[in-house]
Amino acid sequence: MYKEWNVNTDSLSSTLGFTVTPAMWVNSSSAIKGRDTHGTSPLPRVQDWREFNPKTYLHEYYSDLAMENSALVRFFVDTYKTIPNASSLLDFGGGPTIYPLIGAAHKVKEIHFCDYLETNLAEVRLWLEEKKLAFNWQPFVSATLTLELGRPCTPGDIAAREKQLRKRITWLGRCDARLTPPLPGPARNYDVVVSNFCAESATDDRQQWRTFMFNIASLVRPGGKFIISALKGAHSYSVGRKIFPAVNLNETDLAWGLITAGCKPESINIRSVSADRPSRFYQGLMLASAEKS
Ligand SMILES: C[S@@+](CC[C@H](N)C(=O)[O-])C[C@H]1O[C@@H](n2cnc3c(N)ncnc32)[C@H](O)[C@@H]1O
Repeated sequence: MYKEWNVNTDSLSSTLGFTVTPAMWVNSSSAIKGRDTHGTSPLPRVQDWREFNPKTYLHEYYSDLAMENSALVRFFVDTYKTIPNASSLLDFGGGPTIYPLIGAAHKVKEIHFCDYLETNLAEVRLWLEEKKLAFNWQPFVSATLTLELGRPCTPGDIAAREKQLRKRITWLGRCDARLTPPLPGPARNYDVVVSNFCAESATDDRQQWRTFMFNIASLVRPGGKFIISALKGAHSYSVGRKIFPAVNLNETDLAWGLITAGCKPESINIRSVSADRPSRFYQGLMLASAEKS
């Protein structure tokens, strides 16, 4: 559940000229206070990305359509309405997931997908190749289609969208947000770049986060769309018993990050949603879109 409005009177928003959707904390403040681990963890943070287990991650974050995931699905359905047909799209740091691409499949001509970890790409390949061990994204496909169509979708609708998405994904490869450019091969750019929980979830260093934002945004063509989600108020996040680093951000930080990465201030739109369970080491999610200068 989230709330959206334009804040033209807010001093920060009017200075920067972006549209912010303030968080509506659905969890009671006592529930938030009760999380003595909120924002910190009793376990040491993992230093080695090889400890990121794709299946554990998928199970922990994508096995339901509670508040966080419902907000993500709605955000993508709404945001893809604003992109031109036949766009080229890159999902940067997509991890083992394909949920952000479900709503794009019928609008774009081609999707490229990259992540830092080969194990995550292997998990996505399982889904592309319809292997038995692949994660089941059908609840997300169904939720996306239901919003798009304005009616419950049929099994046939779901199968058709999955087929379309598999066809659209034409390249899978490695990326590294620390590099300029962050993709291998000659410099290229896209009409739309989507990057979810990557830049702020790959470091706990704010300056490095800014560099990651800049490098990822460099892949958006001038006038193209940058769609980015980030954890709000996080110090870390868990993947099973492993704790990964994160940068502690709010909407202002994210807006400045987008501006310094070359996005037009007046084009920035941010939605916020609160974390849907007290066990999370973050306050919520921020879902943003912006146009590249
Ligand atoms: C929290 S996961 C997000 C995955 C997915 N986008 C999602 O929405 O759930 C963070 C991702 O950042 C990737 N990552 C870590 N270091 C990176 C780097 N230097 N460059 C690009 N991606 C990186 C990890 O492999 C992982 O897939």
